Amino acid sequence: MANNLLAGKKGIIFGALDDKSIAWKIAERCVEEGAEITLTNAPVALRFGAINALGEKLNAKIIPADATSMEDLENLFTESMDVLGGKIDFVLHSIGMSLNVRKKRGYTNLNYDFMHKTFDISAMSFHRVMQTIWKMDAINDWGSILALTYIAAQRVFPDYNEMAESKALLESFARSFGYHFGVEKKVRVNTVSQSPTWTTAGSGVKGFEEFFGYADKMSPLGNASADACADYCVMMFSDLTKMVTMQNLYHDGGFSNMGMNPSVLGL
Ligand SMILES: NC(=O)c1ccc[n+]([C@@H]2O[C@H](COP(=O)([O-])OP(=O)(O)OC[C@H]3O[C@@H](n4cnc5c(N)ncnc54)[C@H](O)[C@@H]3O)[C@@H](O)[C@H]2O)c1
Repeated sequence: MANNLLAGKKGIIFGALDDKSIAWKIAERCVEEGAEITLTNAPVALRFGAINALGEKLNAKIIPADATSMEDLENLFTESMDVLGGKIDFVLHSIGMSLNVRKKRGYTNLNYDFMHKTFDISAMSFHRVMQTIWKMDAINDWGSILALTYIAAQRVFPDYNEMAESKALLESFARSFGYHFGVEKKVRVNTVSQSPTWTTAGSGVKGFEEFFGYADKMSPLGNASADACADYCVMMFSDLTKMVTMQNLYHDGGFSNMGMNPSVLGL
């Protein structure tokens, strides 16, 4: 159901790869709520993913950008402001990648070149995006910046590997930059900590199927879907959440506050 919550707003959505991507659902919901957006992803993802179909469906320009390249990011914001006709109101960072996870290296046998790459793509890119916005003065007052994260930043999930530290760094960037954006520009910065979700990035983690089932049983409301995450992000981009900033917001059906759920033990 659409309520025009984002009427007149302009946004940039990072990370829609295919129709399983959380960013894909968020992009669809934002446009349904009246926003105009541009879509972006790494050049390689544009070649292999299905983002062109989404661009056509949403009438959204697709602008390639490797989130580890300052030049690409500057170009992305310049072009987006040009296409959308002014400053941006919201940005979604929905980017994650670990070569150690991909190559199935365990936590006690990590490759540090891969680890650097993981931190650069999955966490530092968020600082890069925010610094680009800051320097280009590319966001309107009372704008909203969001990144997707996972509870492995706070608790141990052994197979999540160095993505755990990556998410801890990402969440810390949201708090620290959130301070500066709040004081200077009345812009809010938050992270949404989402349930396990069946996507390319999610299902790459070892034992994902079993883990998905475990989290689903542990959470009183069950796992939150990508569609539900899209609803939540729309609210966070809307004017209804203007005073929420520097928060890590759990969107997980209650998982984060559970200790034990009898249903996990089959009781
Ligand atoms: N799937 C889950 O279980 C889950 C749970 C909590 C949080 N998250 C987070 O949600 C976000 C989106 O992941 P998803 O699950 O939708 O998977 P996804 O694989 O669909 O999305 C990850 C995206 O990152 C993009 N990307 C990778 N390297 C990039 C680069 N250098 N520059 C720009 N983009 C790049 C990919 O092309 C892809 O579109 C990630 O931050 C992920 O950690 C996922």
